Amino acid sequence: MSYQTYDFMIKEIKSKLNTKIIGRKFYHFDKIDSTNLYAKKLIKEKIQEGTIVISDVQTKGKGRKERSWSSTKGGLWFSIILYPEIPTKKAFFVTMTCSIAVVQTIFELTKLKSVLKWPNDILIKGKKVCGILTELESISGKIKYAIVGIGININNELDEEIKKTATSLYKETKTKISQKNFLISFLKNFETLYNKLSVFDSDYIKSSWLSYSNIIGKNVRIIDEVLSTIGKVIDIDDDGCIILETKNGKKIINFGDLEFL
Ligand code: BTN
Repeated sequence: MSYQTYDFMIKEIKSKLNTKIIGRKFYHFDKIDSTNLYAKKLIKEKIQEGTIVISDVQTKGKGRKERSWSSTKGGLWFSIILYPEIPTKKAFFVTMTCSIAVVQTIFELTKLKSVLKWPNDILIKGKKVCGILTELESISGKIKYAIVGIGININNELDEEIKKTATSLYKETKTKISQKNFLISFLKNFETLYNKLSVFDSDYIKSSWLSYSNIIGKNVRIIDEVLSTIGKVIDIDDDGCIILETKNGKKIINFGDLEFL
């Protein structure tokens, strides 16, 4: 398969974007270690909000919990720099808005329904098509910056070790999806939702997130570094934490990997 690269597309993407904040500035690379790492360097230079760092290939793509993230040609690997004026304890809403925009964009471009899995995976038919890694710094309980790193398997070949658990839009549709069109739609969708975050319309974001997720009422196990908690999902609270009904009563979980039982 021949793959698109982003270099020649950035001008076109910018001309088609009518966004005010998101995607007003792009940094494009053919190859980089990690777009999140580069974004961190830009923040030190006080780069403007909404700046996108994008690379055709990442040599050290980062996943959650220090995992690596396979980032070969044909996928969409990028980071968005944000300065959301919200309390740090609401930071999960930043990732939520982003994952809602991914689900909306997948539907717009492919008519496929993808599902959100807490905390921030996007699945098609139970297989992961997108992961989000949000890294942030805070001061006095407020977010100083957030780097939202998004990895979407579009037309890229999947590595042997992730084939059982991951999928791509190409695999699901048997059609090559334009990475450029995906990015344009995503950035527009994301800005609309980000505006809701700026006025902190948490009810809207939460209910929208829940409408794309299938976790309520499911029996799950949530594993973090030390604990494994089993229970039934009752709700997501106003900080984006999972509320579980366990045999020892209600538990609120803010971190970990979720497995359906
Ligand atoms: C996960 O583990 O599910 C999160 C994966 C996030 C991968 C993206 S690809 C673009 C950005 N740069 C990185 O190094 N990681 C994120």
